[in-house]
Amino acid sequence: MFITFEGIEGGGKSTQVQKISDALTKAGYNIVQTKEPGGTAIGQELRRMILDPNQRFHSPYTEVMLFFADRLEHVETVIKPALASGKIVLCDRYIDSTIAYQIGGRGMPKPLIETLTQLVDLKPDLTLLFDLSPEEGLQRAKQRAALDRFEQESIDFHSRIRHSYLDQAKKEPDRIKVISASCDIEPLFERLMKDYILPSLS
Ligand code: TYD
Repeated sequence: MFITFEGIEGGGKSTQVQKISDALTKAGYNIVQTKEPGGTAIGQELRRMILDPNQRFHSPYTEVMLFFADRLEHVETVIKPALASGKIVLCDRYIDSTIAYQIGGRGMPKPLIETLTQLVDLKPDLTLLFDLSPEEGLQRAKQRAALDRFEQESIDFHSRIRHSYLDQAKKEPDRIKVISASCDIEPLFERLMKDYILPSLS
């Protein structure tokens, strides 16, 4: 079982991944909790370059290439081996982030991303999309820590990302479940476990 967690900034996604991972581990499941970018040693270095607010890329394609480099290493060395040994993989962001951020947000050509995605050849079984307004999300992100290169982008950029995510969910309703994320941590966690995570494991 390969489950991914998606959404714009500030939706509380990472907190929920941690809680779900803890609960499933406690219930006896074998869990690999991971994230993109940064799920491998190489990925950690790529992540630092990608998120650095002082980073300036001189080609519009550099950023997307770095995300795919991170993903290919991650899929080959972490995700596929974990799935092959029967573990449940929980991944904070994956391919849908690239579609939303690089196509929806940055305006990269869709055929390019589709071609690069063919190199990855692994789709999630279930994707939880944490949806909330960019205004609320960025407000929450600001309270949390210094803003990274993406969080410093405009509300308009994040609105395009949100709409791109919602379009993807409409195209693949069986895989991508839209979760309203503007609520408290505990009730949201209980709803996710009961409505999506536990049914997907049974
Ligand atoms: P991170 O701190 O992991 O984000 P969050 O805590 O919001 O999940 O930073 C990852 C950033 O990289 C986030 O702004 C989304 C962006 N991103 C892309 O633009 N494309 C991608 O393919 C991925 C995986 C992430």
